[in-house]
Amino acid sequence: MSPRVLPAADPAAIEEAAAVLRRGGLVAFPTETVYGLGARADRAEAVAKIFAAKGRPAWNPLIVHVAGVAHARSLTLSWPDAAEALASRFWPGPLTLVLPRDPSKVPDLVCAGGPSVALRVPAHPVAHALLVAAGVPVAAPSANRFQALSPTTAEHARRGLGDRVDLILDGGPCDYGIESTVVDLGGVVPVVLRAGAVSREALAELLPGVGLREASHDEAPEGEALASPGMLRRHYAPRARLLVVRPEALHEALAALHSEAPSPVGCVTLRPLANPPAGVIASALGEDPVAYARALFATLHGLDDRGCSAVAIEAVPETTAWEAVRDRLRRASS
Ligand code: TXA
Ligand code: MG
Repeated sequence: MSPRVLPAADPAAIEEAAAVLRRGGLVAFPTETVYGLGARADRAEAVAKIFAAKGRPAWNPLIVHVAGVAHARSLTLSWPDAAEALASRFWPGPLTLVLPRDPSKVPDLVCAGGPSVALRVPAHPVAHALLVAAGVPVAAPSANRFQALSPTTAEHARRGLGDRVDLILDGGPCDYGIESTVVDLGGVVPVVLRAGAVSREALAELLPGVGLREASHDEAPEGEALASPGMLRRHYAPRARLLVVRPEALHEALAALHSEAPSPVGCVTLRPLANPPAGVIASALGEDPVAYARALFATLHGLDDRGCSAVAIEAVPETTAWEAVRDRLRRASS
């Protein structure tokens, strides 16, 4: 069975989706980063459906989405100056702030029982309208099965989740195509837990020298929640095997991959590949990290659809501007 997919431009669709959320159902909806799989965050029974639909382990906490700063603040026990500064600069937008949780407002399940809650005010007009209409905070991970590629279109969400979701709002492709940046403000110094749509350079204007916590876990450490499950090494992965390759080694890698299997081999580069070998489906995503990120997941979904057994992906520059893309490529290929 297929879930219902409604055009988000129709106000009646927003109302209907809001009603599904209010009664504890699941709605996939567009945000400016990727599609989210939402449930009301103030009811543990509703949130439990997210974990079941995704096949996501319960130690992996969720981001709570709200329509405005005041609502976000009301779910926390403290609101440091850095939160105020970042919220006024980047909200609504693709930044997630991790802050001390008010346990009377946010159930344990949302936060894997931990002391903090991840909060985001999305900028996408459909996400915003849905949050306003629902009138409740909405927990939403990306609308894909656990460890699979994030969806950047309603169709990706439909194919990934099927009838595990009650309703999908189709708002077209996402602007950023890569998840929000997650910043932890609960510690002594702010730290980026997941590189994402807001670059560390942009954050550094308000948080000088803000660091990135390196990925270090393959699975949940015994008896405790991960500092950030986005740090799981394998994540955001297509079905095809993905190899990150230095530009000068691309042709050799393609030939080797092609000799392993009769199926086509994908190749993702910055600039167009000169003389792509036969059997290679080549995509050039350009040299701008923002445009590249926007196209990346959709390109990998497309290569999966075309039956690629493997994808060789040209290594991207080592600069901070490419940090989020490098992070996703590293996880998808590990
Ligand atoms: O762009 C996005 O952030 C999308 C859209 C739908 O908003 N959501 C998303 O959610 O990517 P998800 O569940 O796929 O990733 C959420 C990440 C986790 O991997 C983790 O790093 C972090 O947010 N997170 C959530 N709650 C946390 C908490 N209490 N403490 C630390 N990190 C947390
Ligand atoms: Mg995700």
